[in-house]
Amino acid sequence: MIGAARSDPFPFPPGPRGYPILGVLPQLRSDPIRTFLDAADRYGDIVHLKAGPYHGFLISNPADIKHVLQDNARNYHKSPLYQRLKDTLGNGLLTSEDAFWLRQRRLAQPAFHRQRLVAMTDAMVSCTEQMLERWEHAAATGETVDLVAEMMAVTQAIIVRTMFSTDLGAAAEVVNRTWPIINRRIGETFWSTKLETTLPIPANRRFAHALRELDSVVYRIIANRRQSGRDESDLLSMFLSVRDEETGAGMTDRQLRDEVMTMLLAGHETTSLALSWTYYLLSGHPEIGRRIADEVDRVIGDGRPAFQHVDQLTLTRRVLEESLRLYPPAWGFSRLSLGDDEIGGYRVPKGSIVFVIPFVVHRRPKLWPDPGRFDPHRFGPEQESTRPRFAYIPFGGGPRGCIGNQFAMLEAQLILASIARRFQIDLVPAQNIRPEPLITLRPKPGIRAKLRKRA
Ligand code: HEM
Repeated sequence: MIGAARSDPFPFPPGPRGYPILGVLPQLRSDPIRTFLDAADRYGDIVHLKAGPYHGFLISNPADIKHVLQDNARNYHKSPLYQRLKDTLGNGLLTSEDAFWLRQRRLAQPAFHRQRLVAMTDAMVSCTEQMLERWEHAAATGETVDLVAEMMAVTQAIIVRTMFSTDLGAAAEVVNRTWPIINRRIGETFWSTKLETTLPIPANRRFAHALRELDSVVYRIIANRRQSGRDESDLLSMFLSVRDEETGAGMTDRQLRDEVMTMLLAGHETTSLALSWTYYLLSGHPEIGRRIADEVDRVIGDGRPAFQHVDQLTLTRRVLEESLRLYPPAWGFSRLSLGDDEIGGYRVPKGSIVFVIPFVVHRRPKLWPDPGRFDPHRFGPEQESTRPRFAYIPFGGGPRGCIGNQFAMLEAQLILASIARRFQIDLVPAQNIRPEPLITLRPKPGIRAKLRKRA
């Protein structure tokens, strides 16, 4: 019934026919972003996409997205496509469901309250300054750096310091080496069967080995804290102090591992990519880069970036928001319907996958005029007041929206501002940088840049 007329009782919405049995799975595997973009362009707000055994529905109208993520969120779980992520993160905040998720979310929430964020500002700036000290050398010798690797390292240092009150030291290398292997494999096998991911082929062995190494880093963070017994009033302390109301038991090491792993990975990669894409976009708009530097000079002057400055860094914030629109690091997510639903007048049967793809929503011409154009003014107060809330979803929305939204924006603004005070960044010319949709949207093959000290 693909493409049936809308007047039929509960027809499926229109969509590409695809192959027998597989549907559009081959297209989704080879180029998911193009497949989703084309589908929305061609068929509109809601598209039926048969993906192997599943009925899939791509929704890109803000009202429908609000329905799924917020108003009727109880009818949805994370989709089976999160299984690969679950293999790595276990049953942590990002992947757990229902009562257990709610308990963990409530437990973690205070770590993200405003006064906690204020207290984290200093650590965010210090970690950035350590990176900038290293950059002095690169600037003096004319060496180029890979901005993606640099942003990854600084956001990782920040998440570990703010949430777990520690430094990874030599273990940082393990995270930097293993996470890309894991991220890549999860991205590659997103649409694969369990068999494909468990066969003893080299790619799966590399994944398993990398995960064991990463696990050892995470277990060490937990063991060190247990040993020290100190209450750092950080997220780790909050998790360690929780007791089951009935049994009085604390969280098991495995559960702690899942939460720490989730925060470690969800809490740094996305922000580092947001920053990387921002520099990529600014390279095409050097005048906006200069205006950011002016704003930073005006607001911060010779001082040290601090929490109270952030509200005044208006352009810096809008540039980040525009970058999150064009290259949302969490480029797509999906849900499984637990019962029948109706979206935009169409029946969505129980067991369907609903795709919410920020990359597509953020480029819908009817929501974002001239969507490919980089224009931070889209985030001025007037423009924002006329746009539906769910037209802009880099952090998702509803109860399962990103817990680290404010943290990430604060951190990214502070990093951009700290850099702008001391350096000008020039991308090495003629790089062929493309978005690569793994779990996150990465600039492939990286972003090489030259650093120039500001006079
Ligand atoms: C620019 C940076 C970031 C982006 C674009 C981003 C994006 C997202 C998105 C889209 C979701 C919802 C996924 C879904 O609905 O399936 C999410 C959830 C989540 N994010 Fe973020 N995130 C960012 C930064 C952070 C940071 C800094 C942290 C932690 C410090 C964090 C921790 C989490 C967690 C734990 C969840 C799961 C929340 C739940 O289900 O209760 N994220 N993020």
